[in-house]
Amino acid sequence: MLSADGASRETLFANAREVKTNTIGNKVHFRGLIEFSNVCAKNCFYCGIRKQNKQVQRYSATDDEILDACRFALDHEFGSVVLQSGELSSKSFVKRVEKLVRQIKQLSSGTLGITLSCGEQSAETCKRWFESGAHRYLLRIETSNPELYSQIHPNNAIHSFATRIAALYRLKETGFQLGTGVMIGLPFQTLEDLANDLLFFKQADIDMCGMGPYIEHENTPMYKFRNQLMPLESRFLLALNMVATLRILMPDINIAASTALQAIDPAGREKALAAGANIIMPNITPKKYRNSYLLYNGKPCTNEDAEITSRSLAQKIQQAGFEIGFGEWGDSKHFKNNKY
Ligand code: 5AD
Ligand code: SF4
Repeated sequence: MLSADGASRETLFANAREVKTNTIGNKVHFRGLIEFSNVCAKNCFYCGIRKQNKQVQRYSATDDEILDACRFALDHEFGSVVLQSGELSSKSFVKRVEKLVRQIKQLSSGTLGITLSCGEQSAETCKRWFESGAHRYLLRIETSNPELYSQIHPNNAIHSFATRIAALYRLKETGFQLGTGVMIGLPFQTLEDLANDLLFFKQADIDMCGMGPYIEHENTPMYKFRNQLMPLESRFLLALNMVATLRILMPDINIAASTALQAIDPAGREKALAAGANIIMPNITPKKYRNSYLLYNGKPCTNEDAEITSRSLAQKIQQAGFEIGFGEWGDSKHFKNNKY
């Protein structure tokens, strides 16, 4: 399925779409993505905002800016927001996120759903953030192959595969709806690795998934392998095959149409929806910070505001044949099915 091409690829997408429609329906849910800080303690070899990239101007959005972005999400009936940042574990960071979650709950009278994506955290931090009102968490494992993981990260305690997996299970034990994901088309990655990634998702019994093509960034150590990568277009299509196959493997989870897909093809998100995805994360980060959250080359960031404000994003999605769950949380049906 992962190597399906031509007519068999079309069949794969059609099957995935049918599975989706029959299981969770035809609705798409929006999550307003707020990249509230690019300060990060880590040095992942692939990432443009890694700590050692001194070209990046570091920022932390103010509470008011973040709350304004949440009001924007509310006004546009997005239903949920995602608070994403680099990975920090200082006391002040933990406290800040906790306070922000409470403030967002308060300003929306509890109506905005909150997803966190702030890296690996201790059991105590997970508990504090969950109890303050966040109910979903995204922590990508990047790859399920420990050897590949060690090739794309520094070899030290804060970049340990085992620690990351433990952090993932801790989130689940805390009670979060659990999201993870991988990058597709990494140097040294094989189709078998990707198949194992999907089997890992199934075995970890995840509720949500966000995965997208790896895109090289020039100020990163992994840029030196750029000549060994498959063409961008192939990475894009392989990512769609991954989405479709995962939909068939786990019919009732939430699958995001990732931003990296849109970076390669302007219609990438709609194509992912047609291949089985059901979640879109429009970027609502304050504009002045967007150019400082460049994880990879060509990350789209400028046109989206106008698109959202004029509702043309919604129109595009409706024209492609999908319904939008305005104002709804759109929780993972898988989580509900497991719970009750
Ligand atoms: N290409 C694609 N995705 C990337 N990420 C980080 N760097 C890149 C890149 N160069 C992804 C990682 C991370 C998420 C926030 O962004 O999967 O978990
Ligand atoms: Fe930091 Fe995440 Fe980038 Fe790694 S991928 S350097 S943890 S922001």
